[in-house]
Amino acid sequence: MANCNPSSDKKSDEMATLEVESGSDFIVHVFSSSSELLGKLHEKWSSVKKKPYPAMYSSIFGGIILDPAMMVIPIDDHMVHRGHGVFDTAVILDGYLYELDAHLDRFLRSAAKARISSPFPRSTLRSILVQLTAASQCKEGTLRYWLSAGPGNFLLSPAACPTSAFYAVVIDDTISQCKNGVKVITSTIPMKSTLFATMKNVNYLPNVLAIMEAEDKGSFASIWVDEEGFIAEGPNVNVALITKDKELILPSFDKILSGCTAKRLLELAPKLVEQGCLKSVKTANLTVEEAKGVAEMMYVGSTLPILPIIMWDEQPVGDGKVGDLTMALSDLLWHDMVAGPDTQRLCVPYNN
Ligand SMILES: Cc1ncc(COP(=O)(O)O)c(C=O)c1O
Repeated sequence: MANCNPSSDKKSDEMATLEVESGSDFIVHVFSSSSELLGKLHEKWSSVKKKPYPAMYSSIFGGIILDPAMMVIPIDDHMVHRGHGVFDTAVILDGYLYELDAHLDRFLRSAAKARISSPFPRSTLRSILVQLTAASQCKEGTLRYWLSAGPGNFLLSPAACPTSAFYAVVIDDTISQCKNGVKVITSTIPMKSTLFATMKNVNYLPNVLAIMEAEDKGSFASIWVDEEGFIAEGPNVNVALITKDKELILPSFDKILSGCTAKRLLELAPKLVEQGCLKSVKTANLTVEEAKGVAEMMYVGSTLPILPIIMWDEQPVGDGKVGDLTMALSDLLWHDMVAGPDTQRLCVPYNN
């Protein structure tokens, strides 16, 4: 778009001149061959003791890559320059993939909303992810995967892209149960509209700004409140609350991401009702005022799976301590995650 402000035009001309002057001594290296470039990339990775990304799959390469120097995607991929892509994650624990099918279902729902058709049927995507995890030999970490409109050009429309693309990477990481409580703030960054909040697309700029705002204020993360004043979700997590009369409430999923962990929590939590620890389990809309009067509060997400929240906008949540019911819910989810190969929820990439 043309700049209509003459004074700002003059300013940017001055800045450009300054940049050229101060950068005039800087000579940009031109790589004479791809082997020279690869040598440079290998040099960078050779100093890294433990590879953080043990394996990647790319449909563009048509296979699994173990060399981190080659874990790249094309710059003309529409996911790179237009944000036309969707993604999802699954946790790897003790060599098993937790809730892969629930994540894969959400991944394909996101792709349908973003009008990206997969280059492979669901069964092939699943098989690639399982083989990739096996090839990585990673026992603990995360598996992240993307469907993109694909490479082809730098236009807005993907119409001329020959095919969509599928990428996945295994990230070596420590996954452990969270036992300490965190501080949160109410986000001032506008929440995404329903269409974009309910699909896991790669445009996470609002989410990034929301977490940066929280970090700036000395908090772990933030809570979004929707335009009707109801609490919604965190930047990459759902929230759950326990009222003073022991009702477990999760904000309903119609305007936010339907979290796989939150859904699993809703399936498991009735056990605590049977034991008489909780009164009920439900999804509902809570105003900020109602939410600030609860006894316990927590974030819920794949890699946590539960993170107690003890302070919100500098006020204690309940008594300001990690709640017993929060930890009982955390234990339920954690046992489900580490239950081993007999459970239906786990997918076994290799015999460990
Ligand atoms: C915006 C948002 N909300 C909620 C979640 C939690 O979802 P899950 O439990 O599937 O990790 C995530 C993470 O995927 C997210 O990005």
